[in-house]
Amino acid sequence: MKVSEFKTAGKLITGLGAIKALADEMTRLGIKDCAVVTDKGVSSSGLLEQVLALLPYPPLHIIDDIPPEPAVNIIEAKLNDLRENKVDGIIALGGGSAIDSAKVLAATYDHSGSISKLFGENTLSERRLPLIVIPTTAGTGSEVTNIAILSDPKAQMKKGIVSHCLLPDVAIVAPEMTKTCPPSITAASGIDAFVHALEAYISVNASPITDALAEKALKLIFNSLVHAYNNGENLAAREDMATGSLMAGLAFGNAGVGAVHALAYPLGGRFHLSHGMSNAVMLPHVLKVNAPFCQDKLYCVAKLLKVCERHHSKDEAIKLLLIAIEKLCRDVDIPASLTPFNISSSCVGELAEEASKVTRLLRNNPKQLSIEEIEDIYRLAF
Ligand SMILES: NC(=O)c1ccc[n+]([C@@H]2O[C@H](COP(=O)([O-])OP(=O)(O)OC[C@H]3O[C@@H](n4cnc5c(N)ncnc54)[C@H](O)[C@@H]3O)[C@@H](O)[C@H]2O)c1
Ligand SMILES: [Fe+2]
Repeated sequence: MKVSEFKTAGKLITGLGAIKALADEMTRLGIKDCAVVTDKGVSSSGLLEQVLALLPYPPLHIIDDIPPEPAVNIIEAKLNDLRENKVDGIIALGGGSAIDSAKVLAATYDHSGSISKLFGENTLSERRLPLIVIPTTAGTGSEVTNIAILSDPKAQMKKGIVSHCLLPDVAIVAPEMTKTCPPSITAASGIDAFVHALEAYISVNASPITDALAEKALKLIFNSLVHAYNNGENLAAREDMATGSLMAGLAFGNAGVGAVHALAYPLGGRFHLSHGMSNAVMLPHVLKVNAPFCQDKLYCVAKLLKVCERHHSKDEAIKLLLIAIEKLCRDVDIPASLTPFNISSSCVGELAEEASKVTRLLRNNPKQLSIEEIEDIYRLAF
């Protein structure tokens, strides 16, 4: 067995009503004058008000306008505003966009220099501000990962900052916080979570621990996403999705994600497709190319998700799995191709060139892809 390290947030508090632990956790971490980081969609859904009512002291600063898929220059401006306030902790409330922004703000509060210089791995050494995160989507798993993803408008790319400093002190995963999530966000972020579990499971860095987490996450998400999509008030489905996306985050935060994510990045950076949507559209196409290189793992997934019968061969079971995944995407109204997004197939060469630079993720993929193979996958997506 290979030596591996398991990274997660300092403490996980989960389950319906977990949000009530917020005040105690702030006291434990010595947070009195906090900044709350969220976005307009989350605040207009009433969640911000709900969380503000739980704080032991009023917040010193509120950032409530983090845009979806935030750009690095916007976070730099927010950091300047934040530094004018002597805050002693950060509470993030939102989906991956608000959480990633808060992770970067907390880690760079005492850091001089521009945030765009921090893209890459281990570029930060210390975070002094305590950080509590509360996800409202299910989701990115960002509450337990050491990654923050920002758009780099100059490079027209989504880029990651990877550092132990980005692991939150506390993640509070309260499924009721996702009830107001609109169906389209439930679908895209839910498929993103499914991709996290699947890519972690077939990653070359998978371990028995990440496999166990990924298997449970795959089952929970596969069986609940459509129910959460069709009826946002279905609390049982929301609970399974919240747990599934958390477990998927724990799996991929340690085993990594692969080519689906690498090929999704340029779609976000160049064409502003959301992270969830770009992953969801690329998933079936990348999986077809990966399948021969992770047959045993995909066979396990097919059996786990009960999409095949005992008499089916391994090949047949994998075909049935691919059909079931395409159906899952269809059932939550995710387009099967890039055509509805007004992306021209003439961009395939540029997209492939950009995706091929995401070596941080491509190296986790069960098949090492050449730039020509990446181009072929994009062509399949038109
Ligand atoms: N750090 C990581 O490990 C990691 C992993 C995957 C994705 N990401 C990043 O996360 C971002 C995407 O995050 P996301 O998919 O969670 O979406 P998001 O945070 O961008 O939110 C999408 C929209 O949904 C709204 N919303 C979120 N929760 C809501 C709720 N409960 N009620 C009403 N509206 C709600 C928001 O206001 C926003 O308009 C991308 O930038 C992506 O790159 C990070
Ligand atoms: Fe993702």
